[in-house]
Amino acid sequence: KEVTFIMVKPDGVQRGLVGEIIKRFESRGFQLVGCKMMSPSKEHLEKHYADLKSKSFFPGLIKYMSSGPVVAMAWQGKSVVKTGRAMLGATNPLESNPGTIRGDFCIDIGRNICHGSDSVESGKHEVELWFGEKTEDYSLCTESMIYE
Ligand code: GTP
Ligand code: MG
Repeated sequence: KEVTFIMVKPDGVQRGLVGEIIKRFESRGFQLVGCKMMSPSKEHLEKHYADLKSKSFFPGLIKYMSSGPVVAMAWQGKSVVKTGRAMLGATNPLESNPGTIRGDFCIDIGRNICHGSDSVESGKHEVELWFGEKTEDYSLCTESMIYE
């Protein structure tokens, strides 16, 4: 089953958008299989963002991401990685379409309120990195109403 790692970043938590973001994924029909509020260490964030290490904005990104608690989530469903990214909107909120999470709720690229895995591979990898083996294995009783 396809999983993606979705995180409400510190600005999203501070701005009271946790419920809104969860609501959109739930309403769409995706299944929540992991959820926790936590304050990730800088070391953990450096692992999560390892591919961005050489970027000039990297130190600022780590500072921002460790400025307060985040809500880490694992979501499951058909095409949840690609669809999740579409629901988040473009990385730069000024380029995100209205109707997307970033397009509706934020302005700056360095304060873009949420994270979503960018490939099926990184979805698996990031869920493993943030949750280990501790995601839930269950089926929704509405499954036959969501999937043909
Ligand atoms: P995530 O879902 O958060 O991973 O965003 P993304 O996959 O759309 O973008 P990417 O992985 O390339 O960058 C990760 C995060 O770094 C972004 O979400 C931004 O918060 C931040 N970031 C990316 N590019 C820039 C930039 O040019 N300037 C600043 N200040 N931050 C950036
Ligand atoms: Mg990314």
